[in-house]
Amino acid sequence: MKLLAKSLITGLLAVTALTATAQTAKSQKHADRTLKMRQSVFTLIGSNMGALGAMAKGKIPVNAELAKKNATRINQLSFMIEDYLRTDTSKFKLETDALDNIWQEQEKFNKRISALIEASENLKIAADSGDESAIKKAIGRVGKSCGGCHDDFKAE
Ligand code: HEC
Repeated sequence: MKLLAKSLITGLLAVTALTATAQTAKSQKHADRTLKMRQSVFTLIGSNMGALGAMAKGKIPVNAELAKKNATRINQLSFMIEDYLRTDTSKFKLETDALDNIWQEQEKFNKRISALIEASENLKIAADSGDESAIKKAIGRVGKSCGGCHDDFKAE
């Protein structure tokens, strides 16, 4: 119950914080730079998810300290998604998996960001508890929030 209440409060704060509007890339150079930065954010998120996924699948032992560290990083990076995806690059030729609807369905996209913010916050709390099954369950929720956004807003 305490876990749930805490993550709900964080979620509400996260939702109210996400209010910015999109802007269009001004040039090919601006679009290229935007792409590089947004892919960097996701590359780092992905690299912190690796060990967590392995823990959830039982490929490596659950390590609460590592889970806390990576959940904290993913949480911090999740707060960057909105800023780094605000610039609409859809008019430019880029090698990107980002779908154009990111800039057309911003409210829906922001909900997907909030889901990751909440899930990573929830994993931090689970890691503090040290409870293995709670940690695995919380990693699963983080993974679902990645997949949920990818289903709607990422190619492949
Ligand atoms: C709010 C939406 C959203 C969430 C949440 C999200 N992603 Fe993504 N992700 C994207 C989009 C959009 C791209 C494509 C970026 C591009 O190619 O411009 C992407 C790309 C990636 C990439 C490829 C990066 C690259 O260099 O091309 C990885 C890895 C990745 N995501 C992992 C994750 C993981 C792991 C999570 C969860 C912990 C996650 N993502 C959560 C939207 C999201």
